[in-house]
Amino acid sequence: MLKISDLTKKFGAFQALNVGQIDIPRGQVTGIVGPNGAGKTTLFNTVGGAFRPDTGQVMLDGTDITGLPPHKLAEQGLVRTFQISRDLGALTILENLLLARPGQLGESITASLFSRARIRAEEENAVEQARTLLERVDLWRLADQSAANLSGGQKKLLEVLRAMMLSPKVILLDEPAAGVAPTMEGVLADFILSLKAEGVTFAIVEHDMEMIERLCDSVYVMTEGREMMHGSFHEVTSDPRVLEAYLGSMV
Ligand SMILES: Nc1ncnc2c1ncn2[C@@H]1O[C@H](COP(=O)(O)OP(=O)(O)OP(=O)(O)O)[C@@H](O)[C@H]1O
Ligand SMILES: [Mg+2]
Repeated sequence: MLKISDLTKKFGAFQALNVGQIDIPRGQVTGIVGPNGAGKTTLFNTVGGAFRPDTGQVMLDGTDITGLPPHKLAEQGLVRTFQISRDLGALTILENLLLARPGQLGESITASLFSRARIRAEEENAVEQARTLLERVDLWRLADQSAANLSGGQKKLLEVLRAMMLSPKVILLDEPAAGVAPTMEGVLADFILSLKAEGVTFAIVEHDMEMIERLCDSVYVMTEGREMMHGSFHEVTSDPRVLEAYLGSMV
């Protein structure tokens, strides 16, 4: 589904990213782990349109999407969430989901040229989509409350819901479980697996190894900007090179 080849990114003289080949297979959840500073977020930033890569190629479902900005990527079916939850401000939970869809709610000049009935229909559609998503994670009852009041875990869940508003083929999740209480972690994991069962493809950066074990069909280990190993959860966690990479990063 997503093929990342020879992707590099430098910050000044520092080579933050230098991967050979990373494949994210259709309908699977692929984990990306590695010590702090290994380049995992930089990988997502470079694939997800925050930065242009210096070299390399990213293919999504057979289409070259290298260097496209986030809104173009979303049109192609790729969205990402962020390591640090965004400030959700004074918006309600429902508004947060509605605003995740681009060009909505009669904002644009072109939209205002359409009939009111059509804009209305689009809005109702979006609300229906948001409602269905919120009901699945038992947040619909809170839809009109300020998103600022949500727990850390609920905010992470909301990020996944926002991504789903774009009906993506692939979602890149950057540390979805960071700062999430154990019960919410279970809710989040079950939700991700239910989306997988519907055919959504995931790549997940995560330090929580229980989450990785529970969710991932296979796992890449990154160190120093490179993918050093790929295998099952058991294979990568029993490999001495992986242990060394983690220990090495602590000294
Ligand atoms: N915008 C940037 N400008 C300069 N250096 C950066 C930038 N973003 C990341 N880096 C550097 O690139 C390296 C990789 O960072 P990155 O955030 O990708 O690591 P990570 O694997 O996501 O780590 P963590 O597990 O702590 O989130 C680090 O040394 C970091 O300081
Ligand atoms: Mg990171």
